[in-house]
Amino acid sequence: MAVKGPIPRPGVLDIEAYVPGERAVPGGGTPIKLSSNENPLGPSPQAIAAFKAAAADLDRYPDGSASALRKAIGRAHGLNPERIVCGAGSDELLNLVAHAYLGPGDEAICTEHGFLVYRIVTLGSGAKPVVAPEKDLRTDVDAILARVTPRTKMVFIANPNNPTGTYIPFDEVRRLHRGLPAGVLLALDSAYSEYVRRNDYEAGIELVATSENVVMTRTFSKIHGLASLRLGWAYCPAGVADALNRIRGPFNISGAAISAGVAALEDRAHVERSVAHNETWLPWLASEIERLGLKVTPSVGNFLLVHFPVDGRRNADAADAALKANSIIVRKMGGYGLPCALRVTIGTEAENRAVVEALAHFMIGKGS
Ligand SMILES: Cc1ncc(COP(=O)(O)O)c(C=O)c1O
Repeated sequence: MAVKGPIPRPGVLDIEAYVPGERAVPGGGTPIKLSSNENPLGPSPQAIAAFKAAAADLDRYPDGSASALRKAIGRAHGLNPERIVCGAGSDELLNLVAHAYLGPGDEAICTEHGFLVYRIVTLGSGAKPVVAPEKDLRTDVDAILARVTPRTKMVFIANPNNPTGTYIPFDEVRRLHRGLPAGVLLALDSAYSEYVRRNDYEAGIELVATSENVVMTRTFSKIHGLASLRLGWAYCPAGVADALNRIRGPFNISGAAISAGVAALEDRAHVERSVAHNETWLPWLASEIERLGLKVTPSVGNFLLVHFPVDGRRNADAADAALKANSIIVRKMGGYGLPCALRVTIGTEAENRAVVEALAHFMIGKGS
């Protein structure tokens, strides 16, 4: 198509816009939404109260440095607030990091089934995404290191990764970091770190604190149940924090997000309840789905990647349609190069049971 008018910079039109999880089913009604890895318990009641109280100050600009929130994050995680940068979701932070460190001629390495935003922010910065294959749906450090060239400026990994749910032990992350030239920035996306219960796992705090070229991103959208608020944070080396603070919007975090974020961090009991819920229902849902004869990738997150036969009546598209017919929305994975899989977020007990029931009917060929 001939473009009339201004032409976006190279790379922008190569982007396939991110397709969010669906939120409605044909025919209306309130669906069971298991398509975006949200917290089935919702946010802390204290966060909701803080959000409502913030309505009294809507006429004033917020504190542009989100100082109270950075201090609260620092207290909760034992971090220096000066090294924390907040963003409208970790998506914004990933975008900011890419725009600060990537440009035309540069390359950024992402993994085969890595979170799609890495590709989008790389292309949006005019740089080239380079894909490193995974091994058994897991980040492969050697494959990443083999793709480093003088043009490489960034490496993005999510640990655990979305949509696979797999993780690599922190020794592997350290090995990756050791293999990267000092001028390559490693972006460690730890959006699901709170859910992981493995002795060999770390979110990356110490690695950031002891190096100049690692940034860790975190989110309030998952464990804190605040996806609609759009709130995330990055823990950065001083130089990276300085760069992000120069290019971010001066008031990128709303006052309501600052207040609700602080309250969410202070409600440790809610975080623990959310983790405990996941610890109960993640293994339950995985084993119930496996009992139906489907393969499930072992997950340490709050979601499962479920694999369906390649063709025939029991394929992933047919399963998705059958779930939708039962008002259950999960995530199709074609965009992630996994057309035979569906990603299912862990829901409430009733929602998880509804998924198993609908899938059981689907597998034996009954129901809609
Ligand atoms: C791995 C990963 N990183 C980042 C995000 C974005 O989170 P946020 O809501 O903070 O932008 C998601 C959301 O699904 C994710 O799965």
